[in-house]
Amino acid sequence: MELKKDWTTQDLYRPYQDWAPDYLENLTKTVKNSPWRFGYHIQPPTGLLNDPNGFAYYNGKWQLFYQAYPMGPVHGVKSWAHVTSDNLVDWQEEGLKLLPDSSYDSHGVYSGTAMPMGDQLFLAYTGNVRDENWERYTYQMGAFMNPSGEITKIPTPLIAEPPKGYTTHFRDPQVFPFEDGYLMVIGAQNEQEEGEVLTYFSHDCLNWEQLGKLNFTNEQMGFMAECPNLLLTDEHALLIFCPQGLDPAICAYQNIYPNMYVTAASYDKEKNALISPSALKNLDEGFDVYATQAFKAPDGRLLSVSWVGLPEIAYPTDKYGWAHGLSIVKELSFKEDVLYQTPVKEMRELRQENATTYTDEKLVTFDAKSNQYELQIDFETLASGTFTLLADEEQNHGMTITFDASHGKMKIDRSQAGEVFGEDFGTSRAFEIANEPLSLQIFVDQSIIEIFINGGKEVATLRAFPTEKQTQVHLQADAPFTTHFWPLRKMK
Ligand code: FRU
Repeated sequence: MELKKDWTTQDLYRPYQDWAPDYLENLTKTVKNSPWRFGYHIQPPTGLLNDPNGFAYYNGKWQLFYQAYPMGPVHGVKSWAHVTSDNLVDWQEEGLKLLPDSSYDSHGVYSGTAMPMGDQLFLAYTGNVRDENWERYTYQMGAFMNPSGEITKIPTPLIAEPPKGYTTHFRDPQVFPFEDGYLMVIGAQNEQEEGEVLTYFSHDCLNWEQLGKLNFTNEQMGFMAECPNLLLTDEHALLIFCPQGLDPAICAYQNIYPNMYVTAASYDKEKNALISPSALKNLDEGFDVYATQAFKAPDGRLLSVSWVGLPEIAYPTDKYGWAHGLSIVKELSFKEDVLYQTPVKEMRELRQENATTYTDEKLVTFDAKSNQYELQIDFETLASGTFTLLADEEQNHGMTITFDASHGKMKIDRSQAGEVFGEDFGTSRAFEIANEPLSLQIFVDQSIIEIFINGGKEVATLRAFPTEKQTQVHLQADAPFTTHFWPLRKMK
């Protein structure tokens, strides 16, 4: 099928049911012919996926939704697509669940969260609406999903307009139980066009009292704060959000928009403040993480999942009619007030065979045969070296990880990793790592790479689009290391 190229505003907002009956069928065929489809990551059946939404545990299953535009790899009118899982690694597609079909969300069911309430799952989301002059309206909406997966929208908004002094860039509600009620944390832009995180409180999830601006910094958080998430444990508070247009002097980043976090000792509702907040930090040192969503699971773990993709950037799969994926599920934890992100232990279920192990080597080369594997590499001393994945046989091409543990430096370069894209924002990322013997756990899945550094103290996530021949692994260092390699199975 000849893929649609020029998308007019009218195309982008055309109701799904107004597309020709065979349009999606043909698009599905085009997507099936795409290289770079994932084996074990969540991906859209067609079209575009962006933010994870509504991550929750309900009715004996993990529930996850994502922002979806099924008609093409563009930001058209959004719905929530739904996936469920028994084990956090095998995800079943449940289809589009929250559709832009009411006067409060006609131009997009935007991001939000979910939590169990009684025997239902409560969903909070933003309804995006445009009028005939393309003026934006924003409504904070609610819905209930029953155990059969059927959704009933609450007919009127939970919050009908932005508070006084704020623009209609007011979206992405996170709702969770707090004290004797519920807290809502939401992204906003004030009339001076500065990004802020606001909070609300409610006893019933229907009537919301405004608490105001969440205090956690004296710096200006860019022009808009998207997708805020506040996580509270007995000993810590963690705020994850996306400050668009942040001055890099406040915290350096190279992506078009960063996904950042602040840790704190606690949240004080009276002051509406994070107590002893840290400086802003990058959540991920790679190229392609945005809109990470996290929640406290009933088993006590803090679980997160990220959109692996960035707004306003073209990706090589666009020409096959789809774009982006979600990260694997990560567990968030604190050690001495430092945030760690690690793959959930359930990821081990994907390991296919006994590991191939190389012990005490300074040079290891092998053909992974397929770019769908896990690699663990551990040093006992401070070393430097270069690891090349997605390499061709001549080792001329590949994605390189260069490191120097004694100077605490790492650099990831994807300029030779296959089809190049996003060059405007650089083809390499250099960042600091701990001054300790390096340990890496790497998940490769066709065109997503997730690198967990030093037990998750740092994470670097990226997309790369290798040719079919680029399946070699080439590991070289100036001190011995031990490697385990596991081919990983597809998600069931
Ligand atoms: C972040 C975002 C959210 C919004 C959604 C729309 O990527 O812009 O702020 O709710 O995407 O798809």
